[in-house]
Amino acid sequence: MPSNTEFDWSIARRRRFGVWRYRELLPLHNDIEPVTLCEGGTPLIKISRAMNGNVFVKFEGANPTGSFKDRGMTVGITIAKSLGVEGVIVASTGNTAASAAAYAARAGLQCIVVLPRGGVAKGKLAQALLHGAKIVEVDGVFDDALEEVFTEVVINGKRNLYPLNSYNPWRLEGQKTLAFEIVDELREPPDYVFVPVGNAGNISAIWKGFKELYNYGLIRKLPKMVGVQAEGAAPLAKTWTLKSRTLIPIERPMTIASAIRIGRPVNWLKALKAVEESSGVFITVSDDEIVNSMRDLAVYEGVGVEPASAASLAGYRKALEIGIIDKGDVAVLVATGHALKDPDTITKYFSRGD
Ligand code: F0G
Repeated sequence: MPSNTEFDWSIARRRRFGVWRYRELLPLHNDIEPVTLCEGGTPLIKISRAMNGNVFVKFEGANPTGSFKDRGMTVGITIAKSLGVEGVIVASTGNTAASAAAYAARAGLQCIVVLPRGGVAKGKLAQALLHGAKIVEVDGVFDDALEEVFTEVVINGKRNLYPLNSYNPWRLEGQKTLAFEIVDELREPPDYVFVPVGNAGNISAIWKGFKELYNYGLIRKLPKMVGVQAEGAAPLAKTWTLKSRTLIPIERPMTIASAIRIGRPVNWLKALKAVEESSGVFITVSDDEIVNSMRDLAVYEGVGVEPASAASLAGYRKALEIGIIDKGDVAVLVATGHALKDPDTITKYFSRGD
């Protein structure tokens, strides 16, 4: 009969799932107990009717709060708790807020979310409310909300509040596990990974994940990273196209995809490096292309995603059309968030009888 400790450990090991399955590749001290909701381990779904080719959708909507943010939040909140802070603060277009609120609740921490007034989809706002976050709304866009977080934490010196936006490196450590899962499932990296880009943390994190596997000798090639932005909110695509070495911000970002309605992405330099190092590219897609891709994923594949997530399929189609990629190439489209996040867009664009 194993002793209690051995027994507990064996259960804990068997239960290791998703993000924490890769604990050895996360730079955290072993004594730190994770704050987890069993995030990660999301399905990699081969699609065939919305697009034929070697195309897989990594369905991040299957995470506990319905977006990829949970991968980073489990690590970020774990660190926040271990530091003994009273609470966490995030600016958000909605998904970070929903995720921070849920994980803070699980950790017994306060959570303040700073949101652009009128710029957050209903499902996400509802989640933040449900999990008991304190909601602060600012007039303006996400970039103004993030400025408010900087002001609170850095200028007003609220040291008991731990900032958890994606400039926080722990968030990115968690998000890099998406790359590990892709390799675990496909056995090797795909040729291309398509990622919708807003504040540009995710594309940087995923690239970091692939590079680590490569540097450890676990994979022999690297994928090309394709950052997809909405036409009206494409500071990085513009910066990339004009070969500028400084960010060209967009003052009034506009797109139906509210999650990526961001004009001054914090992680812009990391994202540019990810695309450059991987010999990838940034591309833009229109709101119509986003809506069409959202519809096709839903109607032909049964995969319900929010508008920002559909940008990856729209980007893949654009890349094929302009000849950047080939039909035979293996591509993974990161579908970042669940359709239920944004019911208003669905009822507006997909009315009965259409
Ligand atoms: N897709 C969805 C559904 C998102 O919520 C976000 C970002 C992105 C893509 C872009 O990821 O910022 O790492 O480039 N949402 C953030 C938020 C900004 O506040 O929820 P990114």
